[in-house]
Amino acid sequence: MTTTHPASAAAAADPAAGAAVKAADRAHVFHSWSAQGLIDPPAIAGAEGSYFWDYDGNRYLDFSSQLVNTNIGHQHPKVVAAIQEQAAKLCTLAPGFAVDVRSEAARLIAERTPGDLDKIFFTNGGAEAVENAVRMARLHTGRPKVLSAYRSYHGATAAAINLTGDPRRWPSDTASAGVVHFWGPFRYRSPFHAENEAQECERALAHLDQTIAFEGPQTIAAIVLETVPGTAGIMVPPAGYLAGVREICDRHGIVFVLDEVMAGFGRTGRWFAAEHFGVTPDLLTFAKGVNSGYVPLGGVAISAEIAATFDQRPYPGGLTYSGHPLACASAVATINAMAEERIVENADRIGETVIGPALREIAGRHPSVGEVRGMGVFWAVELVKDQETREPLVPYNASGAANAPMGEFAAACKRAGLWPFVNMNRTHVVPPCTVTEAEAKEGLAALDDALTAADAHTTGA
Ligand SMILES: Cc1ncc(COP(=O)(O)O)c(C=O)c1O
Repeated sequence: MTTTHPASAAAAADPAAGAAVKAADRAHVFHSWSAQGLIDPPAIAGAEGSYFWDYDGNRYLDFSSQLVNTNIGHQHPKVVAAIQEQAAKLCTLAPGFAVDVRSEAARLIAERTPGDLDKIFFTNGGAEAVENAVRMARLHTGRPKVLSAYRSYHGATAAAINLTGDPRRWPSDTASAGVVHFWGPFRYRSPFHAENEAQECERALAHLDQTIAFEGPQTIAAIVLETVPGTAGIMVPPAGYLAGVREICDRHGIVFVLDEVMAGFGRTGRWFAAEHFGVTPDLLTFAKGVNSGYVPLGGVAISAEIAATFDQRPYPGGLTYSGHPLACASAVATINAMAEERIVENADRIGETVIGPALREIAGRHPSVGEVRGMGVFWAVELVKDQETREPLVPYNASGAANAPMGEFAAACKRAGLWPFVNMNRTHVVPPCTVTEAEAKEGLAALDDALTAADAHTTGA
């Protein structure tokens, strides 16, 4: 596909306007996940395709897709036009009415979800989708507990943050949410001391089986897993793992929830990551890529059996903006454009032929790269102090001076015009699914150079 962006962001530079945006931000905007006095949010003037730019003439290639959500790139003209047309026609309508774009968005999503996940409950984002999936599972089974994995992220609302298996949960964890965590497979840092993928898979399934046996299967409503865990490190599960979890759920009458908020809608080179593994969950949560976040939207795709639970009995949940017409119109346009322009196929091809091979080559040149892994436009580069011991380049959950090596790496990327995704000791290569071969190569070359900053912190450097 073709994208046009200013030949030079410098032409659009307006530092005075940027300073005003920043001053109002610092005075009045309260930012997520941050100590408000310690942050310096960059003021951004515009974006198009795979790039965005600030008011000072700096343009960045977005290897983060913002928060891994702009799968179709910035300002896709068909999606922008659909929002404009819908705004002129009908901006809002309560969830209790049938409306053309809501019906069509649900139909297009259901057509792509695996198996019989044919009913769609719309939310405003990913966390609410997870929240409602858990509610559905508890009501469907009449059981209280939910199992989820360490090394996971499921959102920042009550149930979703308690399911989350990373330090963002800790300040909100009252230990009373009915969530039990277990270890998923992760060969590079195997919790099971496995020597190969097959062993990792077998031992991870045995561990889950044991966890369930000791928790009491009749107390467990759901197992919630990211199909490919995203923010926690893009750990593609070994062959057979998700099928094994499906079998365990079936054996105990446990609802299997796959969270595809990040992995869905093209990110892994398929409409849904579950396709790679031939597995159909009972509930599938989505958000982000469904409309690339142009208007907030998420949802739960529901199996026939769980949907039937609420045929004669009301579903006790709802949102004023469930299935918002502007959000649904942008989802319809996004899904249609992704199909017409073969954007999911592009993500698959770029991963296979450009990102994967380049990252493997880069790994061979840099002592700081412990492992590269991923699929589609969903890749992690694991940075280490020592390739032998696999000691992470920075300690788990490091901040301040302890996190300086990752800060230096990120700064080197930005100086080269690359906006990286950085989490703990990893950088994720997660450009839009529309990224061109030339853009991917440009970003990978900048990443290659910036890794020299990480190499300086390796043992013996
Ligand atoms: C797998 C997964 N689930 C849920 C969420 C939460 O989505 P949201 O931030 O839209 O609430 C995220 C966000 O990154 C996610 O990656």
